[in-house]
Amino acid sequence: AATGVLAAVPASLVIGGRPGTARAAESPFAVPLKVPTPLRPTRFAGHDFYRLTTREADVTVLPGTRTRVRSFNGVLNPLIVAERGRPVVIEQVNSLNVPFAMHLHGGHVPERSDGHPKNEVKPGERRLFRYPNEQRASTLWIHDHSHHSHAENIYRGLAATYLLTDEFEENLPLPKGQYDVTLQMRDAKFAANGTLEWDVHDFEGRNTILVNGSPRPYFEVAARKYRLRLVNTANERPFLLQLGDGEEFTHIATDGGLLPAPVPTRMLQLWPGERHEIVVDFGRYGVGRKLVLNNTFPYDGETTEVMRFDVVRTAGDPSSVPGTLRAAPDLGTSTVEREFTLSFNPRTGEHLINNEPFDINRVDIRPRLDTTETWRIVNADTQFGIPHSLHPHLDHFRVLDRNGKPPAAGEAGLKDTLTVMAGEAARIQLRFTDYAGRFMYHCHLLGHLQMGMMGQMEISR
Ligand code: C2O
Ligand code: CU
Repeated sequence: AATGVLAAVPASLVIGGRPGTARAAESPFAVPLKVPTPLRPTRFAGHDFYRLTTREADVTVLPGTRTRVRSFNGVLNPLIVAERGRPVVIEQVNSLNVPFAMHLHGGHVPERSDGHPKNEVKPGERRLFRYPNEQRASTLWIHDHSHHSHAENIYRGLAATYLLTDEFEENLPLPKGQYDVTLQMRDAKFAANGTLEWDVHDFEGRNTILVNGSPRPYFEVAARKYRLRLVNTANERPFLLQLGDGEEFTHIATDGGLLPAPVPTRMLQLWPGERHEIVVDFGRYGVGRKLVLNNTFPYDGETTEVMRFDVVRTAGDPSSVPGTLRAAPDLGTSTVEREFTLSFNPRTGEHLINNEPFDINRVDIRPRLDTTETWRIVNADTQFGIPHSLHPHLDHFRVLDRNGKPPAAGEAGLKDTLTVMAGEAARIQLRFTDYAGRFMYHCHLLGHLQMGMMGQMEISR
């Protein structure tokens, strides 16, 4: 039975099956966390240029073994840092033997650069992507969106972090530089020889937790505040995170950037595709203290380790978390309301939006540019209790309510991916701006997406 913090978790979080617990062969906290250094762009007058070659690479993930992964430039989980107002141009060269459609998740980008599956880059081909970077600072990520191989491509390693910075944030006294660290979290299943094993349906078998590509690493930190950017790049696994024995930390940002105000909390849910940023003050603990970041499964309350923070040195700390951060923008008044019912069809194994699986030749909705809409997202999977999410491309949204109640403080900012539990409903508001064209919206549990849970919107003037 659920006790303590688990009592706060809706019973509907329980799903038919559950991911395996992290009882892999590797011992926890045996390898240091890899902190990615940003890729170096070629700087032109008007933009930063990168060439990303998608290709296989052999890397060490589990100590003593080599794992063949799908990588950008041979690197697992690279990092790109971009500045607001300065476009980034990426030439993607596909040296894989599968198609690849590069998508900037959370990016406000024109259709031709959005990685629509109709624009897949075939093996041996290349394509230019232009990201205007006119949106507010936020933690975004790049992943594949090809028609049939996205889940496997992401699983095998094709996920990069894309940090967009801006002056507004830079002027805040939040932790910066080496004290601002991205943590990409996911699960995976390995054979004893280190080979990655993948089966879209076998989310229960993925029993190894990776952070920045390392199994349950340790991270040596100074006794001061850190900004941690958490990104869930897993196919299906949610993280319900707690630090140490329920230590307090501060939730400062979500998918679309800073929250209106910081939220002190002791527990955080991080669903696939989502980003949450927290500030942890390790200055509260003495040198020598070790704090485990735990993931608690709501299904049975079992707790497994994700990583460990080892406080190893003192450091000055000029940083602080201001009492107000960044107001969410006014998205105007909605003139259109739509409903999206998410459900699983046990007879066909398909996951559906409004009773239909994805069809690349069908446009599902036709929003007008410069208008605001309210979307009601209904998770109708009461039979199996499967959670679903909705992620519209192009524009961030605000959460209006969940089951008729105003959103919690941690959902008061801009979001781009929202998970709704079985039998529940949420309403979001979004405004279509700048770019006409065809964009997708879908569940970000990638097995569901692969099994049809995606629709298309054609945005026009
Ligand atoms: Cu994370 Cu359609 O994407
Ligand atoms: Cu789903």
